[in-house]
Amino acid sequence: MVHLIVAMTPKGVIGKDGTLPWHIPEDLKHFKRLTSGSQVVMGRKTFDSLNMPKGLPNRQNFVVSRNAPKVRGYDPEVTYRTSVEDALLSASLCSQSPNTFIIGGATIYEHALKNNLVDEMHISFVKEQYDGDTNFPDFDKTQWEEIEHVDMGDFIYIKFKFLGETNKDYMNLKKLVDNP
Ligand SMILES: NC(=O)c1ccc[n+]([C@@H]2O[C@H](COP(=O)([O-])OP(=O)(O)OC[C@H]3O[C@@H](n4cnc5c(N)ncnc54)[C@H](OP(=O)(O)O)[C@@H]3O)[C@@H](O)[C@H]2O)c1
Repeated sequence: MVHLIVAMTPKGVIGKDGTLPWHIPEDLKHFKRLTSGSQVVMGRKTFDSLNMPKGLPNRQNFVVSRNAPKVRGYDPEVTYRTSVEDALLSASLCSQSPNTFIIGGATIYEHALKNNLVDEMHISFVKEQYDGDTNFPDFDKTQWEEIEHVDMGDFIYIKFKFLGETNKDYMNLKKLVDNP
């Protein structure tokens, strides 16, 4: 299953100056709890902002970059892919877990939502307003059903399920691998 996980302000701000505009330890723990043991897919700028060359621990890391093969060396703990779909396919093939989390940033969220790649969204709505320069993309709210709603103190966690048909076309490559 493909999940998207994000924290945003009531106005949809998710980033500032290449990093998070806030420090909310409880949300970081929540993020870790949900994503540990699974695959994570992120844009190159989000990966850079982590400042963790080996990626997030206890997760298989996939980084999306158009320049990946030119600018990066091979690191067994971080896999570079040139499209979101290739990253999702590789994540599904690595079979560490049936769950892959798209963890940002804005360009990757936008691509994933526009192309109906996401089954479930996990949104932390940060209660306080913060200014920023990066926003979560607009999406069709009528296509998403709220299935969980928890007040976590500094933020409200809401889980949404996609009501439409999730696009799994990129998995056709997997069929080729399974039945060459
Ligand atoms: N609040 C949250 O939950 C949250 C989560 C994650 C990130 N953030 C914030 O979001 C900001 C970063 O977001 P961002 O949108 O600027 O950057 P990003 O999505 O993390 O990374 C953008 C980069 O990803 C690659 N890329 C994007 N779309 C691609 C595509 N279709 N195919 C191939 N490669 C693609 C490109 O890398 P190359 O330039 O290498 O080609 C592009 O420059 C930061 O402030 C970060 O802290 C917030």
